[in-house]
Amino acid sequence: MLLNEFFWENKYNTHKTGWDLGEVSPPLKTYFDQLSNKELKILIPGGGNSYEAEYLFNKGFTNVYVVDISKTAIENIKKRVPNFPTGQLIQADFFDLEMKFDLIIEQTFFCAIDPNLRATYASKMNDLLIEKGKLVGLLFDAKLNEDHPPFGGSKKEYLAYFQPYFSLDIFEKSYNSFHNRQEMELFVKFLKR
Ligand SMILES: C[S@@+](CC[C@H](N)C(=O)[O-])C[C@H]1O[C@@H](n2cnc3c(N)ncnc32)[C@H](O)[C@@H]1O
Repeated sequence: MLLNEFFWENKYNTHKTGWDLGEVSPPLKTYFDQLSNKELKILIPGGGNSYEAEYLFNKGFTNVYVVDISKTAIENIKKRVPNFPTGQLIQADFFDLEMKFDLIIEQTFFCAIDPNLRATYASKMNDLLIEKGKLVGLLFDAKLNEDHPPFGGSKKEYLAYFQPYFSLDIFEKSYNSFHNRQEMELFVKFLKR
């Protein structure tokens, strides 16, 4: 299965977006609420309808970027949040991005890519972060699917990808996941070495 632009565009166009929470994800909201530096340069890769980007923007964070391979996803946030700086809403493949960020937010993007790309994902995150930058978010700790997204995984599997580049500051069961994801997610805060 080719998980390309066509695949994701089709999901949005046929409204098969079962991952979409329709609101900022509770564990990320809790994390965002304790951030004080509104100038942090933040990336949300595979941001989809991007409620997290909207939440941050409305709280006064000015340097929030979304990259998504789907044109419709990018158009949806442009329409919903017309004041969001359009130069920070990028339709592109995450793996082609060449920029630097202080903080990158993960939510249901890692589980959406081909599992063969997981090691590349970790190394790309390392490339995209500044020295001591952070990768923060949620990873599924559950079996899920083997032939189509969302792909599952375990803490043990993930360790192998991230340990080469990051200090694993937080890597534990999320206590405040969205109701239908409870007991299924790890909250992570990885610091670039
Ligand atoms: C499962 S959805 C999650 C969306 C969003 N993070 C959320 O939680 O609602 C995965 C998203 O990643 C995007 N995506 C998949 N592969 C991508 C890639 N290589 N580069 C950028 N975006 C990608 C899809 O278009 C889709 O919006």
